[in-house]
Amino acid sequence: MQPDQDIIITVLTMEHYEAVYALWCGCEGMGLTEADSREGTEKYLLRNPGMSRVALDGDRVVGAVLVGHDGRRGYLNHLAVSPDCRRRGVGAMLLTEALEVLRADGIGKCHGLVFKDNVNGLEFWRAADWHIHEEICLISKKLPPV
Ligand SMILES: CC(C)(COP(=O)(O)OP(=O)(O)OC[C@H]1O[C@@H](n2cnc3c(N)ncnc32)[C@H](O)[C@@H]1OP(=O)(O)O)[C@@H](O)C(=O)NCCC(=O)NCCS
Repeated sequence: MQPDQDIIITVLTMEHYEAVYALWCGCEGMGLTEADSREGTEKYLLRNPGMSRVALDGDRVVGAVLVGHDGRRGYLNHLAVSPDCRRRGVGAMLLTEALEVLRADGIGKCHGLVFKDNVNGLEFWRAADWHIHEEICLISKKLPPV
């Protein structure tokens, strides 16, 4: 696969938020929540400065990924590429940069979440040689607001 020459990968900032949120809303398999609000995203970017990435085709946001870590493991969230820009290597470019950002910060392993019925998404991660855990369940609990 040849990397797309027209696409630039750069740091995702709050300036991109509206376009990124619209992109996520237009993609299947995303699982958006209140944590993806403007306020939630700003908080995330402040905790993980300069790590998340957008893919730009000129001025247009055509891909995005949230990248962060807890000092121990890296986490990728909401990797998405605009439906009309898929299979041009944009997702792979975002992933390569995301992992390089984490590696440069001393992180040795990275996790992500994918819905089990997201067949295309799972194919992407498989092609990128990620291990898909059949033996792990995600457990979650909502906390009351302070
Ligand atoms: C998953 C996603 C990010 C892939 O983006 P993309 O830019 O199309 O991916 P790439 O072009 O970099 O693909 C890299 C490789 O992944 C595999 N791949 C990607 N999409 C695939 C699909 N739909 N079916 C099978 N394999 C696929 C291929 O091996 C591909 O290489 P190839 O095109 O040379 O065969 C995109 O489909 C998307 O945004 N999906 C909706 C959101 C989502 O599911 N995100 C991931 C889970 S959070």
